[in-house]
Amino acid sequence: MLKQVLYSSVANPDVTQRDVYEIIRASHNYNSKSGITGGLVYLDGYFFQLLEGLPREVDASMQRIQRDWRHHDIVIRREQRVVSPVFADDWMALRCEMHIPSKVFQEHRYEPGMPADQFSADDLFAFLVACFENELHPQMV
Ligand SMILES: Cc1cc2nc3c(=O)[nH]c(=O)nc-3n(C[C@H](O)[C@H](O)[C@H](O)COP(=O)(O)O)c2cc1C
Repeated sequence: MLKQVLYSSVANPDVTQRDVYEIIRASHNYNSKSGITGGLVYLDGYFFQLLEGLPREVDASMQRIQRDWRHHDIVIRREQRVVSPVFADDWMALRCEMHIPSKVFQEHRYEPGMPADQFSADDLFAFLVACFENELHPQMV
């Protein structure tokens, strides 16, 4: 069984697009070695991330991620065991605002940060996956 972690966090206001690309570069490096896949959304000063892999690898990665200065107020929105990964082919996919179709914001009643008192873990998961829809289901493009 794989462990799947979904969290939201607040980006440090000093974070630039360049920092986000640096996060993805480091993620590809580490995740490809530890067999972790997932998706990262950077939107309106918030991060939403889904990580999946062997439990000990995901835990080790989360420990590094939680110490990272580039974000704070990390809230684990859901942790569960899954049989197959959502992001089977991606060491860490990235979506920023310019790549997300506007219908995804409307359909998921998007609010910055997707606050936990308004959006369940399932709501956040559905929103994150929708941000990558074309990439995950190329036959639907
Ligand atoms: C929002 C966010 C998501 C991140 N995701 C990952 C990730 O999936 N995998 C990873 O190895 N590092 C990720 N990082 C980067 C780690 O925090 C860390 O900087 C990186 O693993 C390099 O660690 P090191 O400086 O100890 O070598 C992320 C950082 C942030 C802020």
